[in-house]
Amino acid sequence: MTRKTPDQLRSARWFAPDDLRAFGHRSRAMQQGYAPEEWKGRPVIAILNTWSEAQPCHMHFKTRVDDVKRGILMAGGFPMELPALSLSESFLKPTTMLYRNMLAMDAEELLRGHPVDGVVLMGGCDKTTPGLLLGATSAGYPAIYLPAGPMLRGNWKGKTLGSGSDGWKYWDERRAGNISEKEWLEVEGGIARSYGTCMTMGTASTMTAIAESIGMSLPGASSIPAADAGHIRMASACGRRIVEMVWEDLTPAKIQTRKSFENAITVAMAMGCSTNAIIHLIAQARRAGQDIGLNDFEIASRKVPVIANVRPSGDTYLMEDFYYAGGLPGLMGRIKEHLHLDVMTVTGKTLGENIAGAEVYNSDVIRTVDDPIYAEGALAVLKGNLAPDGCVIKPSACDPRFLKHTGPALVFDDYPSMKKAVDDESLDVTADHVLILRNAGPQGGPGMPEWGMLPIPKKLVKQGVRDMVRISDARMSGTSYGACILHVAPESFIGGPLALVQNGDMITLDVDARTINLDISDAEMEKRRAAWVAPERNYERGYGWMFSKHIQQANEGCDFDFLRTDFGAPVKEPAI
Ligand code: FES
Ligand code: MG
Repeated sequence: MTRKTPDQLRSARWFAPDDLRAFGHRSRAMQQGYAPEEWKGRPVIAILNTWSEAQPCHMHFKTRVDDVKRGILMAGGFPMELPALSLSESFLKPTTMLYRNMLAMDAEELLRGHPVDGVVLMGGCDKTTPGLLLGATSAGYPAIYLPAGPMLRGNWKGKTLGSGSDGWKYWDERRAGNISEKEWLEVEGGIARSYGTCMTMGTASTMTAIAESIGMSLPGASSIPAADAGHIRMASACGRRIVEMVWEDLTPAKIQTRKSFENAITVAMAMGCSTNAIIHLIAQARRAGQDIGLNDFEIASRKVPVIANVRPSGDTYLMEDFYYAGGLPGLMGRIKEHLHLDVMTVTGKTLGENIAGAEVYNSDVIRTVDDPIYAEGALAVLKGNLAPDGCVIKPSACDPRFLKHTGPALVFDDYPSMKKAVDDESLDVTADHVLILRNAGPQGGPGMPEWGMLPIPKKLVKQGVRDMVRISDARMSGTSYGACILHVAPESFIGGPLALVQNGDMITLDVDARTINLDISDAEMEKRRAAWVAPERNYERGYGWMFSKHIQQANEGCDFDFLRTDFGAPVKEPAI
C-alpha cells in the first residue's frame, strides 16, 4: 500500500507554503497556543461533535471528545474539534427529520472549508448518524464514525424499562386508568437513567449498527453502552485509527460499495431494525453513488430472519444485553453466509477479517437463523393502488392477525384533529377499522414527523385493544410497534392516492403478498383525483421553503435533489 507523504496532506495547502495566506493560518494557530511542531507534517483531524445542552443522548460527548483527541495525538495527528448541529430527537421540533439534510450540509461544508485531512464523526441520536455520514460521504475525506452508545437499561420497581416502547406501553395503561400519577412520575425518572442513545432497537441503535456494518465504525463500536469504560477506550481507538487512515488514504468511497450497503441492509433486517433505516440507507447509498432502492430491502427481507431478540421486535432484552451477548460482531458472525465478507472497512481490513472469531455468549439474545424471533426480515415493502411508490411495515413488531386484513377507513387530515378524535369516547370506531393520517409526509408534515404510530382510540384501549391497522405517509419512531403502515409514497400532500381515501372505504393489506389496496375502481379513483385540491404550502420563506422546494419522497431517501451525487459537476476544492 502506498502511503501519503506529509507534503501530500490536504492541510499542507493551508499550513506549508511560504506565502502570506499560510503565514495567516500559522500565526492564528500560534494565537491558539500551538507551536509549529504540533501541526507540521501531521494530519489535521476534524472531530465533528454533535454535543449540545439540548442533546441528552450525547451528554458525554462534551468530555468524550478529549479521549478522541488523546488517540489522535498519540498517533501523531493534530485534532481540531468542530461543533456540528446536534439534532436532539427529544427536544427539536417539529421533527429532527426536517433537519437531517441540514446537518448533512453542515458536515460536508465544515469539512471542505477547513484544513481537514480526515474526520472523526461523533453522533448517535437518530438523525445524527445519517446526517454526519451523508455529509462525510459527499465530502469524501477519510472518515470514521464514533457512535454515542446506548444508555443503560431503564428501571422501575425492579422492572426493566425500554426507551420509547415502554413510554408508549405505560401511557396506554395510564389512559386506561391502570397507573397512578405517582407511578407515572417514577416511570419518568427511571426510563432514561444514563447518558447515551435509546437502548431499544430504535433508530439510533439501528443506524449505528448500519454504520458499523457498512464498515465506517470500528468492529463492535456500535454495541458498547455509552457509560461503559470500553466506550472511552473505543473513542481513543477511533482517534488513533483515523490518523492511519489519512496516511493510507482510506476514503469512504473505498469502503461504501454496493456490497457494503447490501451488508448493511442484511444486518438491519436481522437486527429487527427501525423502519427509518430504509430512508436513511437509500439516501446514504445514493450519496455514495450506489443505486439502492426499496427492492433491495424486499430481497433481504425475504432471506434474513430477525435474530436479535431486542425490543420492540423482541420481548425482553435491550442493547445492554445485546452487548453482553456478543454485540454486532456476534450477530454478523451468525449471518455470515448472507454477508459479503470481502468488503473493506475503516480498520483497513475486510469485514470477514474483522468478525473472524466473533462469538455469541447468549443465544437467547442473539439467536441462530434456525431459531429466529421472526422468520423473515424486520421490514416489508408493500405496493398497490394506495402506495404506487411503496410503503413500509414492520411485521416483526405487530399483531400477526393484521398481516392480512380488510377494514373500513377512518381518515384524519391532520395530527391535531386525529389526537382530539381518538380521545373522544363516542368516536365511531371498531378494532377492525383502518386509521389513516395524511399530510404527514416529507412536504406535508412538514419533515415527515414520527406520527405513524397513531394512538389507539381511548374507547378501544379501555376494551383491551392494543393494536390496529394504521396507515400514514409519516414515519414512526424505531421504538414504536404495531400494525403501522408508513412512508406511503407519493405522499398525500402532493396528491398521492392516500389523499383520495374517504371514510368507510375498504382497505385491504396482505403482507405476505406485499400488497396494499384501496378497494375502489380506477374510474372512481380518477374522479376523486380530478376533484382534489392541493393544501396550502407550509412555508413561504426560510429553510422550510428551501426544504419544500427540494425534498425528495421517502422511497428516494428524502435527500435534497441538489445534494444528490449526480446533480451537476462535483464541487471543487476551495481556493486558498
Ligand atoms: Fe436520542 Fe432516542 S432520543 S436516540
Ligand atoms: Mg427515535
